[in-house]
Amino acid sequence: MNSPDNAYARSVRDERETALELDGVSRVFAGRAVLKDVSLNVRRGQFVSMLGASGAGKTTLLRILAGLDQADSGRVRVAGARSVVFQEPRLVPAKRVWENVVIGHDRLSAAKSSALAALDEVGLATHADGWPKTLSGGEAQRVALARALVREPKLLLLDEPFAALDALTRIRMYELVARLWRAHTPAVVLVTHDIDEAILLSDRIVVLSQGEISADVVVDFPRPRSRSDEASIALRTRLLAELGVTQDSPRKAA
Ligand SMILES: Nc1ncnc2c1ncn2[C@@H]1O[C@H](COP(=O)(O)OP(=O)(O)O)[C@@H](O)[C@H]1O
Ligand SMILES: [Mg+2]
Repeated sequence: MNSPDNAYARSVRDERETALELDGVSRVFAGRAVLKDVSLNVRRGQFVSMLGASGAGKTTLLRILAGLDQADSGRVRVAGARSVVFQEPRLVPAKRVWENVVIGHDRLSAAKSSALAALDEVGLATHADGWPKTLSGGEAQRVALARALVREPKLLLLDEPFAALDALTRIRMYELVARLWRAHTPAVVLVTHDIDEAILLSDRIVVLSQGEISADVVVDFPRPRSRSDEASIALRTRLLAELGVTQDSPRKAA
């Protein structure tokens, strides 16, 4: 016989399996709805990319997920600790690299060993006592990743973290993020406008168009992926159409 699956049991199970849940979230700026009734569930450990044209509301959504902004209506639930990495590394220049990693931690001396471990994971252990201004853009962004990881987040939020990097550094960063994700298994929401980046890294790709989720695609072909895989090409074509339709749409944001 099947075990009983009542609403209570289901809700307990969902709670255990869900990293984040948005239910009917809206955000209005100066009378204009930037997010319109957005609902999204992300499983624990799932890697989700969010694609969308500039101004679609991606950062607004990420800031709400990060607890840096509040929805005007709807419900937001995040299970466990969350960390954010932005496009700029946002390091404090007057603090050494390792201090930046554990900034805000209470007991700094105890924190140094966690900082060193996190820096080691991003390949920057030798820079621990250096100053932020001595780092390249890619290195600074790796420090930002170490700072995010040291909090052992269940949800890692990345807002175009590779956008300011050169092409080669960017490819190395993809590999690093994929490795850190496999090692620490947080759920990830990666905001990007780079379709290939989304295809290479994600379990799932969500398209945000004018404040609404217009596509939600599972990416289930095996990793490591290449841009030239048949499946990648087919998915890129589909996502381009999704984004293209949006750009050509005669509908204006309300
Ligand atoms: N604090 C704010 N006040 C007023 N308008 C805002 C604010 N934040 C974002 N917006 C507007 O909301 C829209 C979506 O912005 P954003 O979420 O940053 O888009 P994206 O990250 O997708 O490029 C834009 O039109 C932007 O100007
Ligand atoms: Mg943005």
